[in-house]
Amino acid sequence: MDLRDRPRRLRADGIRPLVAETRLSATDLVAPVFVDATADERLPIDSMPGHERVPVDEAVERVEEVRETGVEAVMLFGVPRSKDGRGTRAWAEDGVVQEATRRIVAETDAYVITDVCLCEYTDHGHCGVTERDAETDPRLTVRNDETLDLLSKVAVSHAAAGAHMVAPSSMTDGMVGAIRDGLDEAGFADVPITSYAAKFESAFYGPFRDAADGAPAFGDRRHYQMDPANAREAVREVRLDVEQGADVLMVKPALPYLDVVRDVRREFDRPVAAYNVSGEYAMLHAAAEKGWLDLEATARESLLSIKRAGADLIVTYFAEDVASGL
Ligand code: PBG
Repeated sequence: MDLRDRPRRLRADGIRPLVAETRLSATDLVAPVFVDATADERLPIDSMPGHERVPVDEAVERVEEVRETGVEAVMLFGVPRSKDGRGTRAWAEDGVVQEATRRIVAETDAYVITDVCLCEYTDHGHCGVTERDAETDPRLTVRNDETLDLLSKVAVSHAAAGAHMVAPSSMTDGMVGAIRDGLDEAGFADVPITSYAAKFESAFYGPFRDAADGAPAFGDRRHYQMDPANAREAVREVRLDVEQGADVLMVKPALPYLDVVRDVRREFDRPVAAYNVSGEYAMLHAAAEKGWLDLEATARESLLSIKRAGADLIVTYFAEDVASGL
């Protein structure tokens, strides 16, 4: 037996940190923040323990709490005061995300990324303009090309409010190019785009749809979000976004799609982001509540694994908890 090569030699306490290949730091993390124009006090989100929808008046305070843990970036989601067929509140100058962004940018040092989508703003809950007969013909759910102009308006309105970065999540073909053109024409050439480039039609988004009140009123999103079966197609999706000018490439969800995170890391020379989604958060909490898993340990191991797979930054509901323990 030749045991000259013994990996265990490097597992002693003093040497382990020196040879660690992957490290997690608070500056890798982005904390999602929900701002609700219909709320006049903080409302806990049942399926996401520790998270709340906050009124616009408390957005600054909420972001300061995040910053105190060492996390420097937030991703803003809005619940508008009203919804309609086209999602017009999504690009209103006095919209919920626009108001919150103006205050957060003026009063904190946070890096503000905004989610650019229509599903929280449309009464039907889909991520774009819908056909009148969508209920009977699901292939027509969202009209791709007519949605592009609206997404561009949303992104420009966020940038005008001071957003540092925009993150389109609607999986509309051509969305990154349309938004890049819109931003450039409006004088925001320096505002980068994180594209939710490979966003899968995932059952792990369940708790988020409660949090942001964005469940589709009919049908589902499988005609625009990706089929969980497809990894090659994810590379194609990401390539299209790179060609259209995406600055950061996001894969979503994270844990069930680490192979895709790895593929995107290997294939492209842009920063890779992963979104550790609401269901990934909720399932660890549920198991921890039963005493079956150690919450803090499993959360850290999850985030470390996402980085090991190739993510540079992680959007995660665990951001504050993990950062304060780092
Ligand atoms: C909206 C959007 C969703 C998420 C982020 N942006 C929901 C969806 O597509 O249904 C999911 C986030 C999460 O589950 O944490 N387009």
